[in-house]
Amino acid sequence: MQLFGSEILGLGRGLPDRIMHNSELEKIVETSSEWIKSRTGIEKRYIAAEDEATSDLCAKAAVEALEKANVDASEIDLIIVATMSPDYMYPATAALVQYKIGAVNAGAFDLMAACSGFVYALVTAENFIRCGRYKKILVIGGEVFSKILNWKDRNSCVLFGDGASAAVISQTEDSSKGIISFELGADGSGFDKLIAVAGGTKNPITAEALEKKEHLLTMKGSDIFKFAVRIIPESIQRVLAKTDYKLDDIKLIVPHQANYRILESAAKRLGVGMDKFFMNMDKYANTSAASIGLALYDAFEEGALKKGDLTLLIGFGAGLTHATCIVRL
Ligand SMILES: CC(C)(COP(=O)(O)OP(=O)(O)OC[C@H]1O[C@@H](n2cnc3c(N)ncnc32)[C@H](O)[C@@H]1OP(=O)(O)O)[C@@H](O)C(=O)NCCC(=O)NCCS
Repeated sequence: MQLFGSEILGLGRGLPDRIMHNSELEKIVETSSEWIKSRTGIEKRYIAAEDEATSDLCAKAAVEALEKANVDASEIDLIIVATMSPDYMYPATAALVQYKIGAVNAGAFDLMAACSGFVYALVTAENFIRCGRYKKILVIGGEVFSKILNWKDRNSCVLFGDGASAAVISQTEDSSKGIISFELGADGSGFDKLIAVAGGTKNPITAEALEKKEHLLTMKGSDIFKFAVRIIPESIQRVLAKTDYKLDDIKLIVPHQANYRILESAAKRLGVGMDKFFMNMDKYANTSAASIGLALYDAFEEGALKKGDLTLLIGFGAGLTHATCIVRL
């Protein structure tokens, strides 16, 4: 079988209109702008409107990515939406996006790998393209966290934001382009570190569960912090070891945007400066499956990355999952 390369033809983002600064959170929970900024690097986040769901933000991101790629929605073979805040438990949010953008020839499914979702989706799409089965795939990460957060829990509600990002991935004859090496990982023993306890088949929604707010996100923040600080350098070293490249050859690492202190600690362990990591959590907070796509979008807009560059993407989060890949853009 002939192996093809893959390239990102266009990137898009879908953001709600409303911006919530840290100072607004001071009126909701016992916190301070300064605490949030100094402990996480976050300054503001976007918040969806009452009638805005994940599929709306995903469709917006997809339309921009298609425009930038100069690709018609009818050319798309497959839509993968990575999300942990879908419109409905079922059907798939990807199917709603398929309908909204008029991708009449596309298959569509959701992928749940929490904050690692964008990279899981990219690796999945890439494999369809490399083997020649599909030519054009929309990879989307989208979240409306504001509707699944417990706004009384200061440990979690200050950290997250709403948004979506999309990438049109296309087949190319140049097989040097695309994902060079990757690692998808999971440690399910940590399933309870970031979880919505009720709402699935284990604990269906009951009046008691609603009362206890068990359908909303709960998180053991310091355990996730320790997991992230360990897995980032370990996984980066492993994906590099599968190639002839060294960390020096990577132009920029585009990580999941959870907390700048996680990245500071990972940078120290890797022996690199913070300028090796692209960061934009100040603008969006943690947008989970959307975050790496939003970071890639901004890195291109700001000229920090361009076509041909070698980059490394790394996501980590609930599951506990992680996903890392080295990409020739
Ligand atoms: C949540 C997180 C920012 C907390 O930062 P931290 O420096 O580790 O803070 P600690 O957990 O040690 O808490 C310190 C104190 O701040 C308090 N605190 C927590 N949230 C607060 C807030 N929003 N405002 C003010 N104080 C807060 C805690 O209650 C604790 O108080 P105590 O010492 O009286 O018990 C950090 O653990 C983190 O970022 N973890 C990763 C979470 C994440 O990214 N999850 C998404 C998965 S990708």
